Amino acid sequence: MPSATDSHLIDPHQIDTVLVVDFGAQYAQLIARRVRELSVYSEIVSHRITAEEVARRKPAAIILSGGPKSVHVEGAPSLDPEIYELGVPILGICYGAQLIAQQLQGGVVGRGMRGEYGRAHLTINDPASHLLVDQPVEQDVWMSHFDAVVTPPDGFVATASTPDAPMAVIESVERNIWGVQFHPEVVHTVHGMQVLRRFVIDLAGCRPTWTMSSIIDDQVALIRVKVGAERVICALSGGVDSAVAAALVHKAIGSQLTCVYVDIGLMRKGESDQVTETFRRNMNIELIHVDAGSRFFDKLAGVTEPEAKRKTIGELFVRIFEENIGGLTDATFLVQGTLYPDVIESGGSDGTAAVIKSHHNVGGLPDDMTLQLIEPLRSLFKDEVRRLGTELGLPDEITWRQPFPGPGLGVRIIGEVTPERVAVLQEADAIVREEIRNAGLEREIWQAFAVLAADLRSVGVMGDERTYANPIIIRAVTSDDAMTADWARLPYDLLETMSSRIINEVEGVNRVVYDVTSKPPGTIEWE
Ligand code: XMP
Repeated sequence: MPSATDSHLIDPHQIDTVLVVDFGAQYAQLIARRVRELSVYSEIVSHRITAEEVARRKPAAIILSGGPKSVHVEGAPSLDPEIYELGVPILGICYGAQLIAQQLQGGVVGRGMRGEYGRAHLTINDPASHLLVDQPVEQDVWMSHFDAVVTPPDGFVATASTPDAPMAVIESVERNIWGVQFHPEVVHTVHGMQVLRRFVIDLAGCRPTWTMSSIIDDQVALIRVKVGAERVICALSGGVDSAVAAALVHKAIGSQLTCVYVDIGLMRKGESDQVTETFRRNMNIELIHVDAGSRFFDKLAGVTEPEAKRKTIGELFVRIFEENIGGLTDATFLVQGTLYPDVIESGGSDGTAAVIKSHHNVGGLPDDMTLQLIEPLRSLFKDEVRRLGTELGLPDEITWRQPFPGPGLGVRIIGEVTPERVAVLQEADAIVREEIRNAGLEREIWQAFAVLAADLRSVGVMGDERTYANPIIIRAVTSDDAMTADWARLPYDLLETMSSRIINEVEGVNRVVYDVTSKPPGTIEWE
């Protein structure tokens, strides 16, 4: 039975968990996601985790991630050696494999003479390999290392090699400890998922029970215990995370949940109606729709500096909440759409109690609020949240919605924000998004939107008339997490369709430009 204080999405004692020990790897999150693709629950923990803590958590398996350091460097991160003695199956990847060799008796890690980065050719030298069963003898793997294991620890055998890593795979069937120098988690390692499946499912014996329906069942039970007969409030932003969190909590406690949607007048075209329709009509969730657009426009009059805009919008948002909408102060709990990457970023993977990043996506709620948080998505990645939303019956228009900044279109108008300018931008933005959808690129592109350069005008000619009007900037990026992004290589024909539609259909625009700046040095948004 889940306890009322359990902050995790899943009761860890009921399911098999793989702990991914993070040594500062670029790929730790990716490893956890890959394990979850096998329907096995996975959590990231700090390399400082103690054997005692591991024993308390009773993981079914441990994966040691890669890391940027050399094991020979003073102060390089290490693993509590007692962890190797717990009898938990372990797979070391890259730095993790080197650490196994360094920490266990008899192993030696050589200092690299030259690194091996990118694609490498792996040869399986021992057909009796337990880890690489049913795999081609020759295959491509992805490498990113300098040092390499040169002598496996006592009781281990080396079963595969690459030109620069003679012991690219080390195995101990007896201890159920394995090491691979390559990165099975990246797609360029052709048989990488096969390696992870072999370890997680076959060698560690994890049961693949982490499914969307099991997540919903467990979470519904946890929320019911936690909430009891109290009232719960949820601020919907129009984004995916708060929508899925609300739908999940509603499934658990029905009418005890009240949702508040503050329309700040800066939403995308049709967005407010869509959110209201979906929640009120289709899902039968009580929704208070606060139409506050004119109040925001009043406050934004004359404001042009990006940070001043953000501050103005954020402050008014908080003030509106302080007006006790929906009986905010009568509620005991506040639903937040915090995701697992937020938890990791705020130090939650440290092997200690997770640090809660409070109010991160509500635009800043009052500090003196005494509401307790319900964060039903805090163990999930974005793609899992989308799948969960679909399972809960949310339409694709909600679950596949692109990320959208809290200050809305306010930070996509260069210059003062006025209702007229917002209307122009909404039309242009709707065309960009519609054409991306028509081209079947919606799920490939992280964000695609329009920016109105309202303080800039250029000369053009339409029909026989001279025009002097504003440009629209199209911004489309690919990204995994918005921390870095690349400008999307959209087909020229698609750009042409967007451009001619915007100029023909949106009044006040006579030029369209495409932003070819990655992040860094740019940011995704313009302000
Ligand atoms: P930047 O522009 O910093 O944006 O590259 C990174 C991601 O964050 C989104 N964004 C925001 N999201 N409140 C939010 O909830 C905000 O104030 C905000 N500003 C930017 C942006 O759309 C991108 O996905």
